[in-house]
Amino acid sequence: MTVTLLNDTSLLDSGMTVPLSSGETYFNYCWLREACLTCIDPQTRERIFDLASLPELPRARAARVQGKLLVIEWRHEAQPSHVPIALLEEVATRGRPADPADLPRHLWYADHGARFTRVSQQAVLNDPAARAQLTRALIEDGIAIVTNMAEDGESLPRLVNSIGPITPSAEGLFFDVRVEIEPTNLAFTAGPLEMHTDLPGEEAAPGVQFLHCLQNTVEGGLSLFLDGAAVAEALRVEDPEAFDVLANYKIPFFYRHDAWDYRAHQRVIETDPEGRVTGVTISQHLQDTMDLPQELLDRYYPAFVKFLKMMQEDRFLVRFRSEAGNCVIFDNHRIVHGREGYVADSGMRHLRGCYSDRGALRSTYRVLARQGYLGQPAEQDVQQRA
Ligand SMILES: [Fe+2]
Repeated sequence: MTVTLLNDTSLLDSGMTVPLSSGETYFNYCWLREACLTCIDPQTRERIFDLASLPELPRARAARVQGKLLVIEWRHEAQPSHVPIALLEEVATRGRPADPADLPRHLWYADHGARFTRVSQQAVLNDPAARAQLTRALIEDGIAIVTNMAEDGESLPRLVNSIGPITPSAEGLFFDVRVEIEPTNLAFTAGPLEMHTDLPGEEAAPGVQFLHCLQNTVEGGLSLFLDGAAVAEALRVEDPEAFDVLANYKIPFFYRHDAWDYRAHQRVIETDPEGRVTGVTISQHLQDTMDLPQELLDRYYPAFVKFLKMMQEDRFLVRFRSEAGNCVIFDNHRIVHGREGYVADSGMRHLRGCYSDRGALRSTYRVLARQGYLGQPAEQDVQQRA
């Protein structure tokens, strides 16, 4: 095993530099102390080291690279720390440890409908490779279709539970989209449903939506989907000021009926700390009275209306007929959906829906990836999709 003693000049007051493949890289001593392999309990896999239990902040007196480990001798501790060099390399290059679920979003446009990932329910339930393909598509594309759903009453929860627990909403664990006599939501009428994301009035709007089509024999009623992240990125290019105003200010939403009164503020365009678009929130039928300062609204409304109009453009919209036996799954913080109106007495249209969580989706994908199921499209799928 190769041992390389680190030079005293590497050891600074609050941290040290380590020679890595990308060059000398600085790490803080507290961070290194917490990265020691002994800090994680192998049974519970939780952190069992309390940095505040040390009499002083850690400071190295010597360090060496020994095989695949950085070994640090501390001034005020008898035991050295062992930190994997691989972790240091990941943090040096990515800024954080590797995450198999941190997959880049594939923005998509109107021509993508035929290429949505389709996997049968049987495969999702029984084959981890198919489950990985589905969950990966939901992370990358934000949408996928499960085909050949079983017709029994437990079919939808069986599918959802293979990805994550069902998260309830005001409607309960499930909701039925069909014409109702006294609807609590415009979705439960035969009218057109403008492009929206679901339930923005909740503090944390539902993460992943499942829509299982049980019956659809009506005239009209085509389902509409678009990639809100693709529209937001197009707005950033075409009108950066409009993008900024929608990404920086929150507007109010509600969901109100006899037995509930939800209210929350959301940003129409969600970005992460790196400025990347992570999603959108839009719902004119659940939008509350705007409460931004009136002078700011002079700038906000033109940007907002521009974004709404973009979401009606053919370059972004995918239209398709929901078919009985299919379940569309989509990221409710990214994929904007709607429906064309239909003739109520022309047949039956019944969709059953529920929600799960984006964190649960990523958790399921990480576990599958750890088992070697990365979800890359199978060869025959690539040929079919080409
Ligand atoms: Fe909806």
